[in-house]
Amino acid sequence: MATTIGPPSRKVLADCVRSATAAPSLHNSQPWLFRVERASVEVYTDPRRRLEVIDPDGREQLISIGAALFTLRLAIEQAGYETRVTLFPAAEASHLVARATITGTAPVTAATEALSAAIPHRHTNRWPFAHTPVPQQALEQMRDAARREGAVLTVASAPARDRILALAMSADRWLRARPGYRDEIARWTGGVRHDGVPLWAVGPWDALETVPIRDFAELSELPRPTEKFEPYPTILILATEGDGHCDWVRAGQALQRVLLTATWQNLATTPISQPVEVPAVRQVLTDPDGGLSAQMVLRVGYGRVAPSTPRRPLTDVLRSAEDKLCGPGGGR
Ligand SMILES: Cc1cc2nc3c(=O)[nH]c(=O)nc-3n(C[C@H](O)[C@H](O)[C@H](O)COP(=O)(O)O)c2cc1C
Repeated sequence: MATTIGPPSRKVLADCVRSATAAPSLHNSQPWLFRVERASVEVYTDPRRRLEVIDPDGREQLISIGAALFTLRLAIEQAGYETRVTLFPAAEASHLVARATITGTAPVTAATEALSAAIPHRHTNRWPFAHTPVPQQALEQMRDAARREGAVLTVASAPARDRILALAMSADRWLRARPGYRDEIARWTGGVRHDGVPLWAVGPWDALETVPIRDFAELSELPRPTEKFEPYPTILILATEGDGHCDWVRAGQALQRVLLTATWQNLATTPISQPVEVPAVRQVLTDPDGGLSAQMVLRVGYGRVAPSTPRRPLTDVLRSAEDKLCGPGGGR
């Protein structure tokens, strides 16, 4: 007798959504909303959680959503189901970014097991890393992770690394002088709540002034401690061939796949996005003849264990099927 296996229960999918919320997001803004509809999960942007000053086009918001989408896909695969994902099933400018539909059951692969196991251990690490080089094989696996999600990850050569770090430092200075930047950071830093970057995750200043760790603590009363960071950090650039909404979501999925691949190999990671937030700097991060658009700069290495940051409760992010999540016209 043939056995029919039905779609996963709402509880299974709600647990997958909870896993998805462990994804990284710009300033821990967690700009996502989810809706479970029978055998599918929809992922929406929450327009109130866009950072108007540093992310006027919503590019980093969609990268954050992409990171959550990849984590959701992984959690569903880990639960024993396969999915088909459609990006922007309504219209490219809609709040509905993706629909993941369960298409059947599938055995859990070793790669899925490994990446899912890394989900709760991946944290942004803003502390100095060891002076130990990252093995070529680990870098190759990260490059492959990006490739599998349709993105390109490049390991910066020594001269390129120095140039990127200098560009990132100047982008950081430019941003800090920009009207509204400091207020926006202050709104997302330090409070005791379910989102934003808590002071315990901020990390010290680099005494060598090499690594451009973002100054989340700038407006706090606490003086920021100083430590020597690694003088020759391993720097990676994540890029995509296009630069539209779908490419940003793709970049986010690739980002999270790369970060989890690194975490699985005990590597620590820091997204460094100041250089991609200043258009003139972003433009020169990739070879102008290569046709690629830089989406994120990453630092990778061996570090102490970084603390975890809070997440909004499931009741805040998982809406019921009756909730209307698209505004009039559905514009972002
Ligand atoms: C699009 C994007 C941009 C980010 N930019 C930075 C950055 O410039 N500096 C930084 O320290 N962290 C950055 N992060 C990391 C977030 O601050 C971090 O994911 C968030 O605070 C949640 O913490 P967690 O990654 O430890 O879970 C970025 C993350 C994303 C997804």
